[in-house]
Order: sequence, then structure tokens, then C-alpha cells
Amino acid sequence: MNNFTFFSPTKFVFGKGVENKTGDLCKQFGANKVLIVYGGGSVVRSGLLARVEESLKTANIEYVEFGGIQPNPIDTKVYEGIELVRKENIDFILPVGGGSAIDTAKAIAVGVPYEGDFWDFYLGKAKVKAALPVATVLTIPAAGSEGSGDSVITKVDGMNKLGLGSELMRPKFSIMNPELTMTLPANQTAYGIVDMMAHIFERYFTNTKNVEVTDRVAEGLLIAIMNEAKKVVANPQDYEARANIMWSGTIAHNGLCGVGRAEDWMTHCMEHEVSGLNDKIAHGAGLAVIFPAWMTFMAKNHPYKVAQMAERIFNVEHVGSDEEIALKGIAKLREFFAILNMPKSLSELGFVKSDIDTLVRKFHQNNGEKIEGVYYTMTPEVTRAIYEIAL
Ligand code: NZQ
Ligand code: ZN
Repeated sequence: MNNFTFFSPTKFVFGKGVENKTGDLCKQFGANKVLIVYGGGSVVRSGLLARVEESLKTANIEYVEFGGIQPNPIDTKVYEGIELVRKENIDFILPVGGGSAIDTAKAIAVGVPYEGDFWDFYLGKAKVKAALPVATVLTIPAAGSEGSGDSVITKVDGMNKLGLGSELMRPKFSIMNPELTMTLPANQTAYGIVDMMAHIFERYFTNTKNVEVTDRVAEGLLIAIMNEAKKVVANPQDYEARANIMWSGTIAHNGLCGVGRAEDWMTHCMEHEVSGLNDKIAHGAGLAVIFPAWMTFMAKNHPYKVAQMAERIFNVEHVGSDEEIALKGIAKLREFFAILNMPKSLSELGFVKSDIDTLVRKFHQNNGEKIEGVYYTMTPEVTRAIYEIAL
């Protein structure tokens, strides 16, 4: 096991009706004037926004609304948000929604105190030294942004989708009411489930040895997510299953599954090129296609951990080569994704063979020509082979 520091200080307030505590919590964390960041209107239609605002009013906290954040959020809204916060003297950022609203909120939070262009952080040209406090009211279990120090934004000019990690962006508190997830369309619920599973896989596939405890945490979590997901598919109003899924999404990505080990994240980076090129594609949909393709490549080239997944998570018998065992596990994962009605290929998402050149080029532009120290060294040949399997 590698040395590590684990510090994940978000306060999670979980359960029925907890959104009514938003005002009190904002007060506790020193807010005077809040920017409420939200998406395309689901929180208006569900009445959540009104309840959050009521709670803020009761706590004597001023607020300004900032809506219209699109899925796969873009830089132009971040610039707009930064300007608004400066003009209105806002001191606290409160996204009400999913990963897209939360990631935009985080970008605004680091952009406000910075004199330069906030995009410098995402390009790695500058380091985050200050941020306004962020707290979330979560409406979709998926990205895990409610408990992570990460934000992913697409720069419209060039359609580059890049991630930034900084402890200063980790939410002070996150309000999580599983009832709020019952208005999710089936496909969004499913994309979220794939995404949280992918966050665990990215940490599970490692070459770090002697990480049995985190392996088992990851395996248990994946098994539980799949069981609970089937219940949600059968009955979207199942509160208990929704609650289990919601909490899984958080612990999948708050760092717990990644302690003491090198993490991979190559599948996420490959997916970000997909939903970066076409922002109509949900992140989870892209992952449902790329992860099995990545695993299929690894089954042939570096199967040991994929075979372990097959045996321990999908009960594949320990018979035959690691490659054979791994492939059986991948087939079972694909069966599960089919229950969720996920796309199976890049072609199904509208990509053609000539797009692979662009995906490979952008992937290596954004991540380096040769990426070592991950589960399998990524060169343009490897990346191409995986995208081709996905096609
Ligand atoms: O925009 P509204 O109208 O709110 O509708 C949203 C949106 O269309 C809808 N929705 C959310 N909650 C709902 C609801 N509809 C009905 N009822 C509800 N309760 O769902 C759609 C998707 O929302 P979005 O916020 O985009 O979803 P998600 O949480 O999956 O976020 C995806 C983004 O997060 C990034 C992804 O790349 C993508 O851009 N990621 C962020 C990470 C992080 N910050 O740590 C890590 C992830 O790996 C991921 O890359
Ligand atoms: Zn993800």
C-alpha cells in the first residue's frame, strides 16, 4: 500500500426533507449573500428551488439566482458567473442540481479571487490559491462532485473538456435528499449509476499491490450499486434503493476507494473527449461504451485485475486463462449495462471511423503523448485500439 493522506471534510446532511436546512447550514458556514447556481429548470419544476430560497430567507441570507447551466457545462457560463459574483458582492456559492451545476459553481468559486483567466487552472498554468466557499444541494447521484474537490468544464473554443482538482473546491456541506432523485428521467438515473461505477473502476484498476481492503470496499460497493440499481429500474419510487444509490455515488468519488493506491482515470479521459466533441452525449453514456472497450483491451494485454473483477464481482469461475475469465466478466458487465438501456458502441452515439483520429489526437494533446504510471501505458496506438473496440 502507498503512503496517503485522506482528508474529506464535507459535511453531508442526508435524508428526507433536508433541503429545508439549507439556510441554517449556509449561516453556520458564514454565508451572507449566496449565488444559487442551477441547470435547465428541473429544480424550478420540482419546487426545490423555491424551498431552498424559502430556507435562505428564513435564515436572513440574501441570494441571487444564476440558472441555465447545461449538462457538460461550458466556460462561457463560468465567466458570466464570475462577473455576477463580483458585481453583487456574493460570498458563498450554492449549486442546486447535479455535477454540471456543481462544477460550474466550483469554477466560479476559484475564478472570483483570481486576477487572471480561470481557465489557466484547468490548463495547469496556474495553481488554485483561494476560492469562495461552495456547498451543494444535490439532485442526481452521478458525478460525485458533492464530495469531491474536482470540477470538469468544456471550453467552447476548441471543445476541450478538462478537469481540475483542488481541495479548496471541496464542498463545505452537501445536502442529499434521495426523494429529490425520483423526478429523474430513467436515462439520467442510469447515466449516474454508470458514472459512479466508473469512478470506482478507475481506482480499482491499479498496479499497486497489497490494497486488499480498498479492493474489497470497491467490490462491495459495485455489487451493492448493481443490486440497488435493478430495484430502482423496477420501481423508480423505491426510496430505500434511491437512498442507497445516492450515498454510493458520493463514496464512489470522495477519495475513500482510492487511498493507498495509484489511480488510473484513463477511461474518464477517453470519455471526456467523446462528450467534449459532442456535448449532447451524457458522460455516463460515453463511459458505458468506453469502459467495456478499455477492459476488453486489458483482458488481452494486462488482464490480472480485470480477471479479479470478473471473479469477485461477477462470480465468474476460476477456470481458464486470465483473459478468458476477464472476458466473461466484461460480458456480465455489458449485460448489466443493457438492463440500464445504455448505448453499446460509439457508432450508436453517432461516431464514425474517421472520428477516431480526432479522439486520439485530442486525448494525447490533453494528457500527454505517452502516459505512464497508470494501469497500462497509454500511447496513441493503445488509445486508438481502445477507441476502435468501442466503435
Ligand atoms: O439541468 P436540469 O434541468 O437541472 O436537468 C438535469 C440535466 O438535464 C437533469 N436533472 C438533474 N437532477 C434532476 C434532473 N432532472 C429531473 N430531476 C432531477 N432531480 O439531469 C441532467 C444531467 O445533469 P448533470 O448535472 O449534467 O448530471 P451529472 O451529475 O451526471 O453531471 C455530469 C457532469 O459532471 C462531470 C461530467 O463530465 C459532466 O460534465 N463530472 C464531474 C466530476 C467531478 N466534478 O468530480 C467527475 C465526473 O467523472 C464527471 O466527469
Ligand atoms: Zn465520471
